Amino acid sequence: MMNLKGEHVFVTGGANGIGEAIVLDALESGASVSFCDIQVDKGLAYEKLLTAKGYSAMFVQADVADFASLSTAHQKVVAKMGNVTGLVNNAGVNCNADPVEMTDEEWNRFMNVDLKSVWHTAKLCLPAMRAARKGAIINIASIHARMTYPKYFPYAAAKSGVIGLTRNLALDEGVFQIRTNAVSPGYTLTPLLEQWFEQLPEKRIESMAVQPMQRMAKTSEIAKVVTFLLSDDASFVNGADWNVDGGLSARFA
Ligand SMILES: NC(=O)c1ccc[n+]([C@@H]2O[C@H](COP(=O)([O-])OP(=O)(O)OC[C@H]3O[C@@H](n4cnc5c(N)ncnc54)[C@H](O)[C@@H]3O)[C@@H](O)[C@H]2O)c1
Repeated sequence: MMNLKGEHVFVTGGANGIGEAIVLDALESGASVSFCDIQVDKGLAYEKLLTAKGYSAMFVQADVADFASLSTAHQKVVAKMGNVTGLVNNAGVNCNADPVEMTDEEWNRFMNVDLKSVWHTAKLCLPAMRAARKGAIINIASIHARMTYPKYFPYAAAKSGVIGLTRNLALDEGVFQIRTNAVSPGYTLTPLLEQWFEQLPEKRIESMAVQPMQRMAKTSEIAKVVTFLLSDDASFVNGADWNVDGGLSARFA
């Protein structure tokens, strides 16, 4: 098992899906884990479940699109669990807008969640990481960063940006021994994916047909890679983007 003892890991969007699994895996690896979400009831229920099992877990309400909200959440988790030593930028939403119809407001809202929040959480967590000369940041991107689907505008742009930000942070913060990496999941069975399949039922069959391993990922399979990258076992992994897609991105057609 990977060792995160003594670490405080903060996960955005931790009440559901991949984030929920990342929270659990980090706890099982010995970390104290705080997580934020806009789904307050789910977040509080998850915190209750985890603390009842004896884990050091804390939920805090925050909208990652809003810096003030994130900043308040950051203050609360640091007050209870100490400085964040592992940051996981997981919160994200899908977007299938029409490039002509999409408004500036819709664009800004989407980009604030899927891209700008990665900078904002780093802005909050980096000062203490720099001072400690230690830290790990994991950004959940997507295989859409490198190839995408029709009718998914502008999700690929946001996720490509996440990988670009990962490189920027890896180079600038590496000198402080802070490692920044991206994880790019393929199809992972979560409410977000279910929501897309419900909108476009034909995609469920099409998507399954191209899976090299003839299945989609379980959320725990993404979480294991995140825990590894957070841990000292990954001490020289910096600026990387790890595909966790069952081989899908190796496929030409
Ligand atoms: N599921 C997939 O197949 C897949 C594939 C590639 C990448 N991803 C990425 O993985 C990440 C997690 O996706 P998921 O499938 O678990 O989604 P999900 O919808 O199941 O969970 C996302 C969580 O983020 C929270 N969230 C959304 N907007 C938020 C905001 N503004 N502030 C705070 N929390 C917010 C949601 O409430 C939810 O709990 C996303 O960044 C997504 O783009 C998912």
